[in-house]
Amino acid sequence: MPVMTSPIMSESEVRAAVEREMPGVRADLERLVRIPGIAFEGFDHSHVERSAEAVAELLRGCGLDVDIVRSGGQPAVIGRRAAPPGAPTVLLYAHHDVQPVGDRSLWESDPFEPVERDGRLYARGAADDKAGVMAHVAALRAYGDALPVGVVLFIEGEEEYGSDSLEQLLVEHRDEITSDVIVIADSANWDIGVPALTTSLRGIVNCFVEVRTLDHAVHSGMFGGAVPDALTALVRLLATLQDDAGDVAVDGLVGREGATVDYPEDRFRAEAGLADGVQLIGTGRITDRLWTKPALAILGVDAPSTGEAPNALVPAAKAKLSIRLAPGDDPKRAYAAVRAHLEQHAPWGAQVTVTVEHDGDPCVIDTSGPMFDAARSAFRTAWDGTDPVDVGIGGSIPFIATFQEMFPKAAILVTGVEDPHARAHGPNESLHLGEFARVCLAEALLLRNVAAVSS
Ligand code: BES
Ligand code: MN
Repeated sequence: MPVMTSPIMSESEVRAAVEREMPGVRADLERLVRIPGIAFEGFDHSHVERSAEAVAELLRGCGLDVDIVRSGGQPAVIGRRAAPPGAPTVLLYAHHDVQPVGDRSLWESDPFEPVERDGRLYARGAADDKAGVMAHVAALRAYGDALPVGVVLFIEGEEEYGSDSLEQLLVEHRDEITSDVIVIADSANWDIGVPALTTSLRGIVNCFVEVRTLDHAVHSGMFGGAVPDALTALVRLLATLQDDAGDVAVDGLVGREGATVDYPEDRFRAEAGLADGVQLIGTGRITDRLWTKPALAILGVDAPSTGEAPNALVPAAKAKLSIRLAPGDDPKRAYAAVRAHLEQHAPWGAQVTVTVEHDGDPCVIDTSGPMFDAARSAFRTAWDGTDPVDVGIGGSIPFIATFQEMFPKAAILVTGVEDPHARAHGPNESLHLGEFARVCLAEALLLRNVAAVSS
């Protein structure tokens, strides 16, 4: 038997310890949320720096050796504590940067001033992903000196901006972060009261398509009827991307049926906030459409705004497309397919230019084995006997594929604090505080279960 530095805490001791820590965890979550750390270009990055420093301070408070690291991008925080003899090391990932807030008038309260309403904490990043950071901190605080595993905390600073320098950081710090189990706290649970273990995520390709039909704007009365305007050409081109049922109509994208989870249509409509009378698009099970098939959306258009549009034919117009890729697809191949489709479907000989913004890999996680059983058991206990549901996720965490390649032997547990009402990336993002407490407990129990598997 390995010699442990402190006795392993019992399940009820862990439960009591997490409960004891929750008020402090909540207060520190609120402090983090007040720092508007946005990694996007054009934002004041001094806030991401402050955010990294605040995270570093929290980790030092947990007795970790802490470094703020970067590799050309925004600062990540690495905190480490060696494993007791014979115990495994667990890497705990979350990100401290957040999405921009968009139109502030759509927020019911200041996005960077956390406010509790009906058991939820409202603020940008309250769920995605500062609660992920604090779930790790909660688990560490609950154990104090009796932490049953070694830990490496890796808290990234530019996840929402595409994690451009993450791969380089992982390569540079490979030896420090190598671990037996990786917990990625940046996903979602299935429902309030029902935990989930994420088994796949979609990939992503974001790209721009620009259409040009004229070299300058001309009077729409003098030339309209014979000269195509670029905005109409763009709209017709974009309309070819889906068929009448709303399935993606680009040849060469991977998509399959395979999800077994039923997502009742009523529940899905309500959670999405679908307007009355609007039909769902695509075919097959809802979970297939979300998890194992591609999806395509137009995120924005550059064209004259309606308030200022003169009676003139628009010479050029540009759209931003986002394609979510099914697990098994390849972003480079998928982009080539989308680009070829756009070039081949240009209406009326319009000039089409396609450029990529960024892409990311999908992933599939084989969730069999003792570490996954250890996680499921921790979830079941934290949710008072409710088993976690195996879910796919329609969103993307591209670097999971990188972790899989770099650390092929590590079990990757993708957990998280979001729920279907969290509105991550939108106005009025929020965290369900009751579920957050369960997530913290589950993570603490998970560390204990993982230590038990290895002993
Ligand atoms: N936390 C999300 C991923 C996610 C989305 C998990 C939905 C569970 C449900 C993550 O922070 C995110 O938003 N990722 C980006 C990736 C992109 C920037 C490459 C996304 O999916 O848009
Ligand atoms: Mn996130």
